[in-house]
This record gives sequence, structure tokens and C-alpha cells, in this order.
Amino acid sequence: MKRIAILTSGGDCAGLNAVIRAVTYRAIQGYGWEVLGIHNGTQGLLARPLEYETLNLSLRGFEDRLLRMGGTILGTTNKGNPFHYPMPDGTFLNRSEEIIEGYRRLEIDALIGVGGDGSLKILSELAAQGNLNFVAIPKTIDNDLGITENSIGFSTAVQVATEALDRLQPTAASHDRVMILEVMGRDAGHIALISGIAGGADVILIPEIPYRMTIIADKIKELQKRGRRSALVIVAEAVKKENGDSVVIHDIMGKERYGGIGHYLGEKISELTGAETRVTVLGHLQRGGQPDFRDRLLACAFGVHAVDLVAEKKFNRMVAWQNRKVIDVPLEEAIAHYQDVNIHGTMMATARGLGISFGD
Ligand code: F6P
Repeated sequence: MKRIAILTSGGDCAGLNAVIRAVTYRAIQGYGWEVLGIHNGTQGLLARPLEYETLNLSLRGFEDRLLRMGGTILGTTNKGNPFHYPMPDGTFLNRSEEIIEGYRRLEIDALIGVGGDGSLKILSELAAQGNLNFVAIPKTIDNDLGITENSIGFSTAVQVATEALDRLQPTAASHDRVMILEVMGRDAGHIALISGIAGGADVILIPEIPYRMTIIADKIKELQKRGRRSALVIVAEAVKKENGDSVVIHDIMGKERYGGIGHYLGEKISELTGAETRVTVLGHLQRGGQPDFRDRLLACAFGVHAVDLVAEKKFNRMVAWQNRKVIDVPLEEAIAHYQDVNIHGTMMATARGLGISFGD
């Protein structure tokens, strides 16, 4: 073992630079290896010549701000699945062999990939096809990867959403308004649930629980009867309309993504309760910015453990957090278990115990 590489893949989040730093520190100080950073996830391995797409990571490069910085110095992408790669002429090509060849050309002994469920699935298929020495580190603000209790980026996103509720509450109260906060989370409601409890939401809507508009309206009317004329509603972007239709927007390339459920709810709540509503879409504020202390610690623990796994030649594993410990699990198992909100779990019971409505 002499030389390893690291890449970040999928949507960025807070804590990625902290994990790149941890991998670099452990590999250089603990084992005396060389560490290469690959730019833009698997895209970097497709580029020729490869040298422009890699970076020698050194201890000096990490001495100052990087632990605290949002984003990823390596860049990342959540587009361009190499097994179904969009070509300029509109066709799709399987470019997986080019990536595997890129890995070999770098003459590395192992690759550490930091990603969410989508990118780790792709990386694990590439590793199997090319017999690559691969170790995975989970990151995703959605916190929907199986087996690990936490992924890098989730805690900071929850902190941002909680702060947003903290800022919305006084203005809601001053104007007697119902404030609706739309948060990310793709298909899982973890961010909405946890920040909704922490930020004192009256209504939390998550994709795991179908809701009825009349029940949400009843909750707001009940608050009004008690003399409270403002309310906070938090909704996960993947929540559907009452009739089951997804609420999506199309970007300029025609790609579909979630967006708009907040405005839909704002109108309906206003119609049904007479309350004045305002909608805030938190968007990518949840992904950028400084990692909070939990994401920094997770990044440090995951980075060190991932390098130790490489040293032990334990490949096709994902590092994970369970019961206050860093562990490692078979990568295949982790990606096979999608982790949405456990509607019978402690946090749900807590929210219900507090009288928060889920509209059901
Ligand atoms: O998976 C992370 C995530 O932030 C989701 O919560 C969100 O739906 C999506 O990525 C947004 O992706 P993009 O950066 O392409 O807008």
C-alpha cells in the first residue's frame, strides 16, 4: 500500500472537506501513504489526461480553514451516471470501463468514495465490475442511507432548518400568519421531522405519512381558538398533493426535481382557515455553509476509520455510525436498506406527544 485516492460524489453537503482532511491526515501521518484527490466524483476518472483531474493532497493543504469550510474542494456531481452516460448527441453510453481504466492509470492501491445512496450504488457496481479496492463513506443531508444512524451533512442541514423556524416564529407571531417552511430530503422526511420538533413546528408533513388538508386546517383553527393566531408548518419537499400527485419543477434541461409543495399548502391553508400564509423554500442553504460540530466529528471518525479499513485490506465496506460508535458494514447491505422515517420510532412518538399534527 502506497497510494490511495478519494473522491466526493452526489450532492454536496457540509462536512465534505472535513472528511477529505481526515482521510489525508490518517493516510499520511498514520501510514505514510500518498493521497490523491479526484475532481468531480467519477467524472474525474473519465477525463483524459487524468492528471488535470487529480490533486495531491498534503497535510499543509489542510492546516487552515478546510475543516470549517462548506462545499468540497474536490468538486462533485449528481449527474452523469457512467452506466448510462448522456452524450452530446442525445444518446446514452455505458462508460464504466473507462472509469475502471482511469482508476488503474492512477496506480492507486485503493479508492475511498464519499457519497449518498445513488452515488454509492454506482461506485459499488464499478468496484464489483473492475475488482477495485473500494471503501465508502456515507454523506447525505437526507440521512436516508441504511444501517448508519447518521450520514455526514444531515446534522448541519437540520441545524439550518431549525434556525429558519427560529427566525420565522417571531415574524409569524408579529403578523398573525401561518408560515410554511419547505425543506429538502428527497424521499425521506428526516430533516422535516427533526427540525420540526427542534424548531417548535405545529404541523410537520413528511412523505411517509399521507395527510388530509381538513385535518391540518382543524389544527390551525384549534390554535386560533386557543388564542394563537400564528402557526409554523414544516413540509418535506417530497410530500405530495392531497390527491397523490407529486409537486415538481423542471429545469432548463427538462430535468424534474421536487419543488412547490410549500406554495400548494400555503394556498390551501389560506382557503380553509382564512389565515394569511407565507412560504419559505429553504433549498440549498441546507447544504452550504460551515459544518456543525456533529458533522465535523462524524467526518473525522469516518475518515480515520475508512483509511484503517484500507490498511487492513477490508474492501467493499461502508463506515457507519451505530450506538455511539464508528463501525463498518458490507456496502451492499447498506445501499440495499433505504432508511426513511420510522413512523413508529421515538422521534415520531415524541412529536405526537407534543401535540404536533402530521395531518393524519
Ligand atoms: O440528495 C440531496 C438533495 O439535497 C435532496 O435533498 C434534494 O432533493 C436534491 O439533493 C437537490 O439536488 P440538486 O442539487 O441537483 O438541486
